[in-house]
Order: sequence, then C-alpha cells, then structure tokens
Amino acid sequence: MSSSTIPHGADQRRGPLRPGERVQLTDEKGRMNTITLTPGGAFHTHRGFLPHDDLIGAPEGCVVTNTIGHKYQALRPLLSDFVLSMPRGAAVVYPKDAGQIVTMADIFPGARVVEAGVGSGALSISLLRAVGDGGYLHSYERREEFADIARGNVETFFGGPHPAWSVSIGDFQDEVVKKEQPGSVDHVVLDMLAPWECLDAVATVLAPGGVWINYVATVTQLSRTAEAIRADGRFTEPASWESMVRGWHVEGLAVRPDHRMVAHTGFLLTARRLAEGVTGLTPKRRPSKTEFAAEDGQAWAGDAGAWNAEGIGERLVSDKKLRRAAKDAASTVQRGAFKDTPEAGQRPE
Ligand SMILES: C[S@@+](CC[C@H](N)C(=O)[O-])C[C@H]1O[C@@H](n2cnc3c(N)ncnc32)[C@H](O)[C@@H]1O
Repeated sequence: MSSSTIPHGADQRRGPLRPGERVQLTDEKGRMNTITLTPGGAFHTHRGFLPHDDLIGAPEGCVVTNTIGHKYQALRPLLSDFVLSMPRGAAVVYPKDAGQIVTMADIFPGARVVEAGVGSGALSISLLRAVGDGGYLHSYERREEFADIARGNVETFFGGPHPAWSVSIGDFQDEVVKKEQPGSVDHVVLDMLAPWECLDAVATVLAPGGVWINYVATVTQLSRTAEAIRADGRFTEPASWESMVRGWHVEGLAVRPDHRMVAHTGFLLTARRLAEGVTGLTPKRRPSKTEFAAEDGQAWAGDAGAWNAEGIGERLVSDKKLRRAAKDAASTVQRGAFKDTPEAGQRPE
C-alpha cells in the first residue's frame, strides 16, 4: 500500500515510538499514565523518573525501567483509552455508546454524516474512523470554546487535520439547512439537549432511507424525542434502547463480574427518513381510550392528564378476571398453598 492510500492517521499507529506521540504507561500494579514523548523530557513520580528518550525509538509494547527500578509497559493508547483521557469540556460519548452508534446507524466508509453538538469531539473521532478519508463528517456546535477543544482532540488523535472533517459554529437546526443540500445526508447524529427542536432540519437534509440517531441522557428527553418523531410522520417508527457493559474479573478460580460498573450513560433512539410525501406505517396497537397530549409529557405533578394505568401501557384487567383472582386468593388462603405458574417470580401485568 503506497503512503497516499494508507488511511489517515494509520501510519501513526505503527513502528517505533516517535517524539510527539502519546504513550500509555502501565506499572506493575496496573496503574496507568499517559504521557506525550518529548526529547529530553521525563516522566516523574514520587518513586523516581523515566527519561522519555528511553522510549523514543523503542518498539511499542516495550518494558522500560525508571531510575529506581520501577517497570512500565509502554503502548500507544487505543481510541477508547484516548477518549477517556483526553481534555474535556462537555461530557463525552463513551466508547460503548460510540460503538453502538456507528453500528446501529450503519455508518459506512464514504458516508455523508452530520453531527451536533461536537462537545469534546469524542464521538467525532469514532465517526471519522467509520466514514474514512473519502467520507464526509460536518460537525455543528453552538459554543466556539467546545469546538476548539474538539479540534484539538481530533487533531491530536489523527496527528493533524482529518481530510473528511469540517466544523461549523452555530445552532444545528439553523446552520445545517444552509450548508447541506436537501436530501444529501446519509446519517444525522445528535448528542444535545433538545433533539426534537431539530426535526424539520433533519427531515430536510436527510436522504430517503437515511438514519437519524440520537443520544440523550434522560428518560424525559427520550420520550419527548420519540413522540415528536412519531407525531411528525416523515420518519419510521422510532426504536429506543440503552446498552450496559459489565466488566469481569477473570483470575484463577475468582471469576465473577466486577463489583463496579458505569451503569448509566445515555439512551439511543433511531428513526429513518421516509420518501418525500409518504406517510409512515405505524404499528397497529390496541386502540387506547387515553390520548397522549403534548402537555401530558411535561405535566409531572398536579393534573394527572394521561397519567393513568392505561396511558402508561398497563394492561386493563376485566372485572370478571378480578373477581376470579379474588376467589382464587381466598381459596389459597384456606388451603395454605400456592400454585406455581410459569410466570412465578415475574412482575404481574
Ligand atoms: C454532551 S455535548 C456533546 C459531546 C460529544 N458528542 C462528544 O462525544 O464529545 C453536547 C453539545 O451540544 C451542544 N449543543 C446543544 N444544542 C445544540 C444545537 N442546537 N446546535 C449545536 N450544538 C448544540 C452543546 O454546546 C454541547 O457542546
């Protein structure tokens, strides 16, 4: 492969360690530090120091010893290591969610993707990896200082500007319709407070069949985004999920889940753009006597509105079934025995 056809940044990940590169040092107790190699520099701890020159020119994966005999294993950080240790302004999308976004939104090499907000640029790095040098990622961010942090992180990771990346400052919903041709975008990726405010802009720029994926932190944002997409009608039925990753401790006979985990990061929601003028098919549900009104999504106290059992999707139980259950319960008490059912232990509907 000639150097011009090597994907951007790939050459940075191979060969001996070079000045200016970030290197992750792991000591014998598993403690990690990331340093940037500088000729003549040193990594100081309260237990001696390690000259950077001992690492520059050495192969990746080498083990080096500091001035008082402490050993370190030296490796280039992976994308997931880099994202968790890079400078942050806004909260970043964790690698587990970035992986889901790239795969579930089907972001392919050469794709045209728009993203907002750019925040610290963590997700931008994964999106650039997925679209590749021949793809297109335009990131929109309303706060200039966040865009500056993101630019620094992306350029550090790829070793310079990425050929597929551009950043615009401003609100996504205002800017994207000025910068992208209608129907020209394959994927819209939103990680922001109020994705529902972007509905019209997304519908304008997304190509028919294009995927809109949202990452939101709370259930209230998830619900409002899903209902807005559903009510709009220009998209498929939204799909929502979250992912949980639990690490395992695997050592000898001590094989068990880790005691701690990152239990909540965010929720993901996707929908696809339908062809212009088409009304989407909505899954047939049982007709609900309770209609969901926009204000019900915001009424958390006071007037109950649609907040009754049927409104939140609980199955209605007929009076006849209730009378039978009461009779069964009374006879169970008399017999002093319970009948096991396949549903035993499950939450009753
Ligand atoms: C949680 S951060 C994004 C983090 C980013 N995805 C990452 O992985 O580093 C949310 C960002 O969205 C920006 N933002 C919120 N609403 C926006 C809008 N309508 N248009 C553009 N940027 C917006 C905020 O300024 C903030 O930087």
